[in-house]
Amino acid sequence: MPLTIRPLPAALGTEVAGLDLRRPLDAAAAAELYAAWLDHIVLIVRDQELTTEQQIRFAGNFGAVGERATPAHRRNEGDGGYDGTIMLVTNRRDGEGRPLGSLPDGEMWFHHDMSYRPEPHKMTLLHALELPSAGGNTKFANLYAAYDAIPAGLKAKLAGRKVLQAYDFALIGQVDIDAGLEDVQHHWQPIFVRHPETGRTALYVSRLISGAIEGLERAESDDVLARLFEIAEHPSVVYEHVWRVGDLVLWDNRCSCHARTDFPREEPRLLRRCTVEGGPMIAAG
Ligand code: OGA
Ligand code: MN
Repeated sequence: MPLTIRPLPAALGTEVAGLDLRRPLDAAAAAELYAAWLDHIVLIVRDQELTTEQQIRFAGNFGAVGERATPAHRRNEGDGGYDGTIMLVTNRRDGEGRPLGSLPDGEMWFHHDMSYRPEPHKMTLLHALELPSAGGNTKFANLYAAYDAIPAGLKAKLAGRKVLQAYDFALIGQVDIDAGLEDVQHHWQPIFVRHPETGRTALYVSRLISGAIEGLERAESDDVLARLFEIAEHPSVVYEHVWRVGDLVLWDNRCSCHARTDFPREEPRLLRRCTVEGGPMIAAG
């Protein structure tokens, strides 16, 4: 089967056809996929049916498979062979009624995976195993395009600044940064980042995780963040993925953020997730 790469009519994303990921990829195909992923930010492979091992092997084509950031006491992957790399994204419960996986149910605001850590993982891979009848779509925002859309005056004001990225695994909203950050994973990151592989500049804020801008009074910082969230979530830079069972979607956490739409809580949704390691975020020069 020849590999075909078909960009979506959207601000980001491309579908890839002609792959059977139950088998190892050859080096040429892996390089072609990686290049398409760098270009299009989100890669969608339909109609796969992968075991955990096959998913991890595929991820390994693109770098070292990432260890989980979630604190051990907040992980519950059931007896699905948890090995520190796989995370279940689901509203299912285990035999004792405890939630499986680590993320909350229902809607999730826009966020970057692991932006609150010094070295966020560059790629997240999510494989759809079970889906509700409606909702639970994942929205992806192209943050190169968001950066380009920031008015020149605001860009100049923010150039070189940092932004506080903080995330509490127990919350579905923003961390209250005034309550102290001792128990919360957090990190000051550049607000504009240079992608280490494409060299392009991206905005690095998200509604769920970004709490304050360095060097601005609180009220102004809140104001500017609200403007940046609007730009980052504008429909012109967003692609909304409607999942099908068997989809495998790979995204670049250095130049995109993502969100989940709400879905009926009584209907099971189950996706299997792993990541590929990245490095420190680089300030745009
Ligand atoms: C994730 C995530 C969104 C979804 O796995 O990091 O944000 O649609 N998932 O479940
Ligand atoms: Mn996420």
